[in-house]
Amino acid sequence: MAKFVGILTSGGDCPGLNAAIRGVGKAALGYYGMQVIGFRDGFRGFMENRTMELDGEMLSGILTQGGTILGTSRDKPHKMQVGDKILDMTDVIVKNYADNHLDVLVCLGGGGTQKNALRLKAKGLNILTLPKTIDNDVVQTDITFGFDTALGIATDAIDRLHSTAHSHHRIIVVEIMGHRAGWLALGAGIAGGADVILIPEIPYQVGAVAEAIKARKRKGKPFSIVAVAEGALTQEEFAEQQASAAKKKDKKTKEIVAEPELVYAERTLRLAHQLELLTGLESRPTILGHLQRGGTPSAADRLLATRLGTAAADLIQARQYGYMVAARGESSTPVALQDVAGQVKTVPPDHPWVASARSVGTSFGD
Ligand code: F6P
Repeated sequence: MAKFVGILTSGGDCPGLNAAIRGVGKAALGYYGMQVIGFRDGFRGFMENRTMELDGEMLSGILTQGGTILGTSRDKPHKMQVGDKILDMTDVIVKNYADNHLDVLVCLGGGGTQKNALRLKAKGLNILTLPKTIDNDVVQTDITFGFDTALGIATDAIDRLHSTAHSHHRIIVVEIMGHRAGWLALGAGIAGGADVILIPEIPYQVGAVAEAIKARKRKGKPFSIVAVAEGALTQEEFAEQQASAAKKKDKKTKEIVAEPELVYAERTLRLAHQLELLTGLESRPTILGHLQRGGTPSAADRLLATRLGTAAADLIQARQYGYMVAARGESSTPVALQDVAGQVKTVPPDHPWVASARSVGTSFGD
């Protein structure tokens, strides 16, 4: 029987992580009689062997808490900053796994975490993962926990921006997180009734966005909400990005991405400015940023995180390792890590949500 279970949270935090820690922990401890150890601050804490015993008391009262009681980081085992060097610390991690007598390590994270988890599996560790991220961009799972809460926050923000845009006859360009995927902006844009939704998967033309806004003005609606995903690109930027990616691939060099937040925000400010010039309406940018990652998880996220967490404990009991526990309909399905790692679930441009938004008159600026 598996006795020692390690848990860590890695990558950007999101609401629902504590619910998932509790789900795995309570089922492993109380239901199966295992011992559970948390590692602080993701793979960095694992490498530094900073542990936290997750007993009944620690797991109690955390279901509704945002963030992660374990702390998190974006460190990767095979490329970790140590002093002024970037080192491969995988062997140290493997040693700590053994020193803690772990039977399994459960990693709660998004796309990057799935890749790191697969690397550790290749080193012989027993690994399970759970899919978390507000971006909802993990493949093989219907949904990731954190997404529903962020969707609610972004939708609420659009609702609030609507009334002020309406009063002042303004354009409000609201930037929504999601990294290179448009799920959050698309979902919140539809739920909040944004007039324009811009997502990375559908490159846009500023002129087309301005036209959609001017058409509304002509119909007596001199205000508009533009929900822009942080990764959205103009058609020219998209073409440039494709060309430079192809060039880099040719040269077999690694793609170097400039600080994304700065680039995202710059693009959003530029878009707001261009729309003001092109439409003659005042325009204001709003960057929702990390507000979308904070606070209490929604009921749907608590439920999802709990059911995936307890399903992970069931897999541990059955000694089934090397999987991500995916949400499929009402059930939880183990999916081999190699079928998840390294892939990103983006929005298909013909996705039903896109079709539905177009049907109610939303412009994608294409
Ligand atoms: O992956 C979650 C996410 O919030 C993305 O939407 C965003 O691009 C990124 O993390 C921001 O990262 P950080 O918290 O490291 O600034």
